[in-house]
Amino acid sequence: MFILAVAGSAVGLGNIWRFPYVAGENGGGVFVLAYIGCIALIGIPIMIAEIVLGRAGRQSPINTMRTLTARSEGSSAWQAIGWMGALAGFMILSFYSVIAGWALAYLIDMGRGVFVDAGAEFATSSFQSFTGDPVKVLGWHTLFMIITTIIAARGVGKGLETTVRYLMPTLFFLLLALVAWAAFSSGHFQEGLAFLFAFKTDQFTGDSILMAMGQAFFTLSLGMGAIMAYGAYLPKEASIVNSALTIAVIDTLVAICSGLVIFPIVFANGLEPSAGPGLMFISLPIAFGQMAGGQFFGTLFFLLVGFAAITSAISIGEPAVAWVVEKAKVTRKTSAIVIGSLAWLVGIGSALSFNLWSDVKLLPGKTFFDTMDYVSNNIILPLGGILIGLFAGWVLDRKILAEQLSDAPSLVVSCLLWLIRVLAPLGIAVVFIMTIIN
Ligand code: PFF
Repeated sequence: MFILAVAGSAVGLGNIWRFPYVAGENGGGVFVLAYIGCIALIGIPIMIAEIVLGRAGRQSPINTMRTLTARSEGSSAWQAIGWMGALAGFMILSFYSVIAGWALAYLIDMGRGVFVDAGAEFATSSFQSFTGDPVKVLGWHTLFMIITTIIAARGVGKGLETTVRYLMPTLFFLLLALVAWAAFSSGHFQEGLAFLFAFKTDQFTGDSILMAMGQAFFTLSLGMGAIMAYGAYLPKEASIVNSALTIAVIDTLVAICSGLVIFPIVFANGLEPSAGPGLMFISLPIAFGQMAGGQFFGTLFFLLVGFAAITSAISIGEPAVAWVVEKAKVTRKTSAIVIGSLAWLVGIGSALSFNLWSDVKLLPGKTFFDTMDYVSNNIILPLGGILIGLFAGWVLDRKILAEQLSDAPSLVVSCLLWLIRVLAPLGIAVVFIMTIIN
């Protein structure tokens, strides 16, 4: 159940929607390599640290950090980890819901057969006219947030378990079927493969390595306490190391498969790999429009993307929802409604970034949506990661850590400890510094 819930959190829009377009904007192959490096050397150790903290504290991340800091006699400043996480949650949930809303809209359009026989031009113009309509984008954002709030209000237990147990394998299976289709029918699989795996450095800029690291944090749901919040539910006897490895492998495979589906379609139809957030919403309708049974499979696919987004969205809000329940002694329902409404409000800025506010820039060249995405993924999550690594590695009472990892061989624990306390924080810091210098 824990693996499924965390996999449900990890696998989401980050894999299917964000990974292909960010890889496309950053030159493909080298980006993918940097991303996998970040997952292996930074992501997995930080995920293990988050689960350790969560299971040791057994509360919301904010209160877990408070308890563990006190038990380890550390400075209360470490509680910032919990607070920063809740803040990042608002920022991420707000734009996540907007994009998930697009997926819901596409689910309906697919079902209605709008994209039967669609070509590149039709898919592109449909996407532009849809996102250009503030009322539609806001409406779907609202619907997605309502659904997420209702499920979150029911608690982390049953709803989530059933959803991930059946839907994740189906999503995985469909994705593999799509990869097979791209391999045999798109006619441009080689090009897609080369783009994802060839070592071309021309578009890999100074910012790209930061983007790769940000993507690694985002896709594994790390750095903001979401995994810590779920770790609070992990039974005592379960293996943290095995769980984290399984989840990271599943998550990475889903992202790579998405790339293997999307890029052949991009090259077959003369689209731009660097088309930005619309990449999936333009390329997939073309693929489904052309394949036999595409209307059915396309509808099913966007349905699954919608579910994958919901299981992730619930976990994005979880640190804040759990904290409000503990702090204000209110029911989960009230807490979920409060958090959902606030994130919905912030999300209006992202929804309007594609239409009415497309000229409003919060950072140079970045719309409200771009700013939320950039600051949360590339700055707050990695920063949270540094602090989590340092806290778990240097401040947390060593007995607590040893107890949580007691099932792992001692060599593995020593290596992990070194990764958590030295390599991961240092790696993140180096990427930050390199980006600033560049
Ligand atoms: N990992 C999710 C995805 O790839 O779509 C997004 C996410 C979930 C980010 C939970 C952060 C988080 F805490």
